[in-house]
Amino acid sequence: MPSVASLKDLSVSGKRVLVRVDFNVPTDGEQVTDNSRIKAALPTLEYLLEQGAKIILMSHLGRPKGEANPQYTLRPVANELANLVGRPVLFLEECMGPKVEEAVEQMQDGNIVLLENLRYHAGEEKNDPEMASALARLAEVYVNDAFGTAHRAHASTAGVPALVSEKAAGLLVEKELKFLGERTGNPERPFVVILGGAKVSDKINVINRLLEKADTILIGGAMAYTFAMAQGKKVGDSLCEPDKIETAKAALAKAEEKGVKFLLPVDNLIAKGLDFGAKSLGETDHTSEGSDIPDGWEGVDIGPKTTDLFVREVASAKTILWNGPMGIFEIEASSKGTYAIAKAVAENQEAISIIGGGDSVSAVNKSGYSDKVSFMSTGGGASLEFLEGKELPGVKALEKA
Ligand code: 3PG
Repeated sequence: MPSVASLKDLSVSGKRVLVRVDFNVPTDGEQVTDNSRIKAALPTLEYLLEQGAKIILMSHLGRPKGEANPQYTLRPVANELANLVGRPVLFLEECMGPKVEEAVEQMQDGNIVLLENLRYHAGEEKNDPEMASALARLAEVYVNDAFGTAHRAHASTAGVPALVSEKAAGLLVEKELKFLGERTGNPERPFVVILGGAKVSDKINVINRLLEKADTILIGGAMAYTFAMAQGKKVGDSLCEPDKIETAKAALAKAEEKGVKFLLPVDNLIAKGLDFGAKSLGETDHTSEGSDIPDGWEGVDIGPKTTDLFVREVASAKTILWNGPMGIFEIEASSKGTYAIAKAVAENQEAISIIGGGDSVSAVNKSGYSDKVSFMSTGGGASLEFLEGKELPGVKALEKA
């Protein structure tokens, strides 16, 4: 882990603390519809409140492409946050400029201000030095607790910390680095990794990296069909990437060379006439163990034999990392594999269980097992890049000189 100051190393009492949070949460324009990321920032905010800091929060929401657009306002987030912390949150309709500076000037210890969406200005994503210095002017101390945005080198994540000398990682960022970094870097064994999702191309760097560390890798989701093709199997009309067959073959060879147990589905739930919009699979069947997927059919979930096999591996693990669903879990009829994995992860209370962000987090939330796992990452792209071993610009920018 890079040498980054912890929030608790800084003196923040009575100071203006500018906190980059990731409040990129779904809203219906009026209300927040999933507040997980706001809740994940609460330990940092509560600590700052206890210390009597003046808290200035900044975030992006969605991709408004450098223009003010009410569809992406952070106003609903201010209301949600006020309810969660039980005190007022002053929402400012700008994120920088004289009005913001004036409002910040008037803050008392323990006050919370939330600035409007940083991405209403093109300078945020361009890491524009003027925008960075306008934001930095607000801060005596800078804290980055936006793990979900740590893979972006933007004004608020890279430009501002370059200008503020008192800076630290927030408690959420620290926790993410601990679980996704330390716990998977030096895991208790057996270390079982479950990877799913649509594309080999999205996950190949993670697979290659984890082949260096894991004892067992279980592959589900549509990317399993590309691996099946690499083994000479037929996959019918399943979603797959024929141009990634060589990549998949290389991963299979690396697994063998490293002695990593690399398990692919032995059977599949298959469908004919899938209609995602109507949440219908049409006609369904199961392939028998080891057999091909017939033409005209597509794989939509792991089958029961695979589920048993994967559940047994998960049950014997001491460290579990899961990223990506096993099938089209948004449709109930093809969600069984994903939910069986969620249950198996939750039931293994001997293991450190880490859910690596994105769809697997929503699957665990929907399954009701969220309080039974050790850690759920708030990062989508950020957690994947971190697991790939890439340096995150938002963390790098916090490093001590
Ligand atoms: C996310 O939701 O992954 C983060 O908030 C980053 O958002 P972005 O992909 O629009 O940069």
